[in-house]
Amino acid sequence: MLTISVLKETVADEKRVALVPESVKRLAKQGITILIQEGTGIEAGFRPKDYEAAGAAIVADYDELLKEGHIFLKVQVVCLQDGMLELVDPLAKGSVIIGFMSPFKYIHNIQSLAERELTTFSMELVPRISRAQRMDALSAMNSAAGYKAVLLAASRLNKFFPLMMTAAGTILPAKVLVIGAGVAGLQAIATAKRLGARVKAFDTRPIVKEQVESLGAEFVSLETSQDAETAGGYAEEMTEDFYRYEHAIIGEHLPDTDAVITTAQIFGKRAPLLITEEMLQSMRHGSVIVDLAAEQGGNCELTVPGKNVERHGVKILAPLDLPSSLSYHTSEMFSRNVAALLGEMLNEGELNIDPNDEVIAGTMLTHEGKIMNQHVIDLLDREEEEKS
Ligand code: NAI
Repeated sequence: MLTISVLKETVADEKRVALVPESVKRLAKQGITILIQEGTGIEAGFRPKDYEAAGAAIVADYDELLKEGHIFLKVQVVCLQDGMLELVDPLAKGSVIIGFMSPFKYIHNIQSLAERELTTFSMELVPRISRAQRMDALSAMNSAAGYKAVLLAASRLNKFFPLMMTAAGTILPAKVLVIGAGVAGLQAIATAKRLGARVKAFDTRPIVKEQVESLGAEFVSLETSQDAETAGGYAEEMTEDFYRYEHAIIGEHLPDTDAVITTAQIFGKRAPLLITEEMLQSMRHGSVIVDLAAEQGGNCELTVPGKNVERHGVKILAPLDLPSSLSYHTSEMFSRNVAALLGEMLNEGELNIDPNDEVIAGTMLTHEGKIMNQHVIDLLDREEEEKS
């Protein structure tokens, strides 16, 4: 019989859990045994008795969890990080690991993982296609981040967000600018609108105009003759000239903006620098920037990843843990994403992995001794070429 071991998160301040009781119940119905490492999920608000009621067993002995499990679930899988590979030594060949693995950050250790003959699925790699939407954990997390970014901005801004009719007269709504209308940006727009702000949004991809407008925000068009979108639907890196032009347009809006949420990213590259120190100085004291792209270098020149700083009277927030700060619901979302992915490879309680399936192939990092992700293979090949 198949056993899933759900492991406790080990990264500091990670409060999410990979499987919630609701998903345990579904999987247990298929005859799968589910072991939960003692203490897992408590910080997210899921109690041991909830897991037990759903059909899981709580296990304190870590070695037993590793020995009994065939599939291992964790939100942040750290075995690719330097010095951490030995964590997977006790696992039997053919074991399956599923979670966020940051594969492009720790690319050099992937070969060692393949050599251990482990089948690994990196949730960041779920293809952004309609069939895989239920499994798209990155979108789920980024949507949560977009929501929370606006709440942070609203709580730090020295203004109200909504229009207020008070005895002291009318208070005008705050003006919010969202830069990058992808998953996080669209959720930021929706949240700022719900709070009553006036919202404008920028994106290099003209295709998002309709989505921005359907949320009640104004779309600021950027003229470009360059193709702004890759075949996979991601943003293309633009030319220096284009960025200069975009700076000028953003610069026109900043003096009249109270809160900016920046989310612009280019797949596999440093985030574009869209707000320079000089531009920021045109903003009113007390204004707020929440830079969601901090981890990729930031969209604002003065961003300090993981810190909140104040420069020229403007508060610049660069939190890195927003999905974890909403751990109850983001765990629920992640758990549903993982359960949906598992659903693609479980057949009457047995594991049946089809490496030719588009979603499985897209998400898989290593399988049967090989690296399965073409982007990783290309990056490693390029490095080899440069060395020789
Ligand atoms: P996405 O790829 O769906 O959206 C990024 C958007 O930026 C795209 O629509 C793209 O066209 C746009 N863009 C790219 N270059 C631009 C430019 N020069 N000007 C205007 N728009 C531009 O990404 P998603 O899912 O919305 O995530 C956004 C960011 O939030 C990422 O950097 C992600 O890593 C970050 N994030 C941060 C978290 C935190 O806790 N700090 C948590 C989750 C996500």
